[in-house]
Amino acid sequence: MSTHGQFSSRIGFILAAAGSAIGLGNIWGFPTQAATHGGAAFLIIYLLLVFALAYPMLVAEIIVGRYGQGDPIKSIRALLPKNKFVGTLLGTGGLLTASGILSFYAILAGWLVAYFFAPVFNMLGMENVAVWLQEFGIARNIIFMILFMLLTILVVKSGVSDGIERWSVRLMPLLLILFVVLIAYILIQDGASEGLKMYLIPDWSHITPSLMVSAMGQAFFSLSLGSCSIMVYGSYLRKDANIPKTGAQVALLDTGVAFMAGLLILPAMFVAQKNGVQIYDDAGALISSGSLVFDVLPEMFKTMGVMGSFVAIIFFFLMIIAALTSSISMLEIPVSTAIHQYNHEREKSSWVIGLLITVFSAVIICNFDTLFGLVITITTQYGQPLLSMSYALILGWIWSRKSLLEEIKQGYPDVDRSIFWKIWPWYLRVVCPVLMLMVFVSSL
Ligand code: PHE
Repeated sequence: MSTHGQFSSRIGFILAAAGSAIGLGNIWGFPTQAATHGGAAFLIIYLLLVFALAYPMLVAEIIVGRYGQGDPIKSIRALLPKNKFVGTLLGTGGLLTASGILSFYAILAGWLVAYFFAPVFNMLGMENVAVWLQEFGIARNIIFMILFMLLTILVVKSGVSDGIERWSVRLMPLLLILFVVLIAYILIQDGASEGLKMYLIPDWSHITPSLMVSAMGQAFFSLSLGSCSIMVYGSYLRKDANIPKTGAQVALLDTGVAFMAGLLILPAMFVAQKNGVQIYDDAGALISSGSLVFDVLPEMFKTMGVMGSFVAIIFFFLMIIAALTSSISMLEIPVSTAIHQYNHEREKSSWVIGLLITVFSAVIICNFDTLFGLVITITTQYGQPLLSMSYALILGWIWSRKSLLEEIKQGYPDVDRSIFWKIWPWYLRVVCPVLMLMVFVSSL
């Protein structure tokens, strides 16, 4: 066996990949986007895009990683041994995208950490601290971003199965249970039905090109595509794992959690509105959409009385874990590259790269209005889809079909007789690029 890390079980991969996929994208990004773009209309287009575009590309990215058995640069070079430059270019692009995503992600996740501590201080009678923790401010943003980055660095420096796998397997199921309980609670509150209606009954007039681009970016972000996280996790996946099936399980879990988050947040918005919180401005636009989720959730916890503080603490704790299982999959990309391409030690690479990203994140915080949205747009609406597309094009057009089949066959021996194999290869070659192009062009 090589010294390359490996997940100790197939379920370990599914949970770690789902851990990467499930995060703020599902619980913050998806409900915010759905609330901004008319609810059900966004939900439907999102589901379509996950199924028709993101899933086929998720399978492609896992294959690149498992075949290449290395960091992104090595894995992409393995597909194109004669043209090393492409591997360097795309691998570096993926690594920079992952780092860029982590730099804004850590800011949001830092808010979660602050919101986790707020009810604790409230219970201790230190209300002014609790208020400070929940207010937007440079000092708070920087302190908690650093805390979150430290957590991320500590897990990544411990390596694949000790760090990443152990945490994902234990804590993700707990989050799901808490979600179900909270949804049941919010749905019986006054005002919830309005949110439910908005989320489930489509108003087609909302379907516009800008909704499509947002939904596409959201789908790629939520499934962690393009930024090489899935590729590197794929390289840790055992050869006897069935890739199409494993990929489908990851996509289903991720989409299920996004759907549930919508089911919680949209009704919670209207319950909060009933309780006097202003959600929409006079023109009908969502107020401060970026912090919507952070405003609405504490409102919901408040309605729960004494229990609310405990529920809030548990909820934000689990959210921090969900964000952590995503952020470690981002930091793992530059770190695994430093280890394999430049022979650096894992521990030192984790600290050095982690600190660099922390500094960049602090720069974003100090220039929040200009940089925060910009970094999100560059990395998630352009970087992720375009990189992901490049891997699909390489697999579809350049790599030999025989090698592709052989790689999948190792964990799925009769794949050549399956419906997957009848559709997926040409779908990846033709339909995915055309679909993406259409979405991009329509947005111009
Ligand atoms: N998929 C993660 C989320 O939904 C974010 C992510 C993007 C993780 C890219 C890794 C790489 O929160």
